[in-house]
Amino acid sequence: MTQASEVPTTTLSAEVAMPMVGLGTWQLPGRRAYDAVRFALEVGYRHIDTATMYRNEAEVGRALRDSGLPRQAVFVTTKLPPGNAGRERQTIAASLRALGTDYVDLWLVHWPPGGGARPQTWRELLAVRDQGLARAVGVSNYSIRQLDELIGATGQAPAVNQIPWSRRQHDPRLLEDHHARGVAVEGYSPLRGSRLGDRVLTEVAAAHGVTPAQVVLRWHLQHGIVVIPKSANRERIAANVDLFGFSLSDEEVERIDALSTR
Ligand SMILES: NC(=O)c1ccc[n+]([C@@H]2O[C@H](COP(=O)([O-])OP(=O)(O)OC[C@H]3O[C@@H](n4cnc5c(N)ncnc54)[C@H](OP(=O)(O)O)[C@@H]3O)[C@@H](O)[C@H]2O)c1
Repeated sequence: MTQASEVPTTTLSAEVAMPMVGLGTWQLPGRRAYDAVRFALEVGYRHIDTATMYRNEAEVGRALRDSGLPRQAVFVTTKLPPGNAGRERQTIAASLRALGTDYVDLWLVHWPPGGGARPQTWRELLAVRDQGLARAVGVSNYSIRQLDELIGATGQAPAVNQIPWSRRQHDPRLLEDHHARGVAVEGYSPLRGSRLGDRVLTEVAAAHGVTPAQVVLRWHLQHGIVVIPKSANRERIAANVDLFGFSLSDEEVERIDALSTR
């Protein structure tokens, strides 16, 4: 079983460290969210990704409390629906009420509101952070141009951009563009976007005695990308955080990188 202390963190600011592996909770409603989060916390996860739009914040919060872990031991992300731009304060208040906590660790703009960067919404997120209701703030599904618009308007870069990242979408230039701006990349749908039966993945998995899904997740980590795989299945929840007993060689990483061009 993975010990919580084994999961490395990435530094978002002097005070905020984000575990590199978290549990995704999209399409986990009600009891399924509660059970998955409770089990994930038992097997070593210390990072949970939810959103107002997932309608499971109350179950995530209840699972956190019932786990008996101190609040500060678990990194919790939730997200502002783009349609709630203009109602940022009410939205974070509702998320905190549902989660049953005084703060979240990361609050993201879920999608660019109306397709635009919306610096005014970003200013509101920064104010919410400064008020102590979110330890860090960021965005999701933003382009580099939109990140630059936010940085240009406020002088402050989002701590994180949560974007789709799988072996099919691997883009070293995009990764570098984020890092050059001090924005951590959090990859969503890491497994959904990967063909797990691919020969390269199955060969590398066999060489390490792990599954192709574990190879894909480990490959993200070795690129410095935070991953938030979702599973409702206990065996897969446990496997998806059991990534620290092996490492990929440079050559294996390059073979998987090359899959993005196929
Ligand atoms: N910001 C955004 O716009 C955005 C968009 C999409 C997702 N997200 C976040 O990212 C999280 C992850 O993305 P995702 O849910 O789209 O996809 P994902 O985590 O890449 O894949 C989930 C799918 O893979 C299966 N799976 C999980 N572990 C597996 C394993 N070890 N082997 C084989 N199959 C496995 C799951 O089925 P089982 O449940 O049956 O295991 C589920 O069908 C979401 O839950 C959400 O928190 C954010």
